[in-house]
Amino acid sequence: MPPDYKIIEFEERYRDDVIHLWRICDLTRPWNDPNKDIDRILSDQTGKLFLIREDNKVLGSVMVGYDGHRGSVYYLSVHPDYQKKNLGRLLMKRSEDYLLTLGCPKLNLMVRTSNIPVIEFYGRLGYEKDEVVVLGKRLITDQKQH
Ligand SMILES: CC(C)(COP(=O)(O)OP(=O)(O)OC[C@H]1O[C@@H](n2cnc3c(N)ncnc32)[C@H](O)[C@@H]1OP(=O)(O)O)[C@@H](O)C(=O)NCCC(=O)NCCS
Repeated sequence: MPPDYKIIEFEERYRDDVIHLWRICDLTRPWNDPNKDIDRILSDQTGKLFLIREDNKVLGSVMVGYDGHRGSVYYLSVHPDYQKKNLGRLLMKRSEDYLLTLGCPKLNLMVRTSNIPVIEFYGRLGYEKDEVVVLGKRLITDQKQH
């Protein structure tokens, strides 16, 4: 890792930068309020939001959780100007290392089937397709964001 890149835990002063990063990486959705998603992960005892930064510039992020059985990752993002420089790999390594400290045996993550480049990215990192259907039920409706 070049010496100026650092992986840190989320700090409040980076909140706007992180949400901006998610927007430019097209990770925000009208039904998810990113501020609430940050608040939720910060209030979770084992959840983490890691950032990769160079000086004070946020270049990437990843949200990690563990439910006692499986680990999960959301909001993995690398600023478009810094993609294909191994930052995504570093963020996933940090996430896996963190989950291992919790004794987490397996990480599951969701990628849209149409998102072939990201599926290829995860494939490079050793992730394989599981033959499962992901079911979901909304329990809290977030305020609409644009
Ligand atoms: C997915 C993402 C985080 C990858 O980050 P990155 O820093 O560019 O990836 P890395 O440089 O660490 O790449 C690691 C490996 O994956 C490969 N890879 C990265 N992006 C790829 C792509 N678009 N297509 C195919 N392979 C890709 C790299 O070539 C590298 O392979 P290597 O083993 O030969 O070195 C980044 O493209 C991104 O932020 N995308 C937008 C947000 C997003 O879709 N997030 C995922 C939500 S599910």
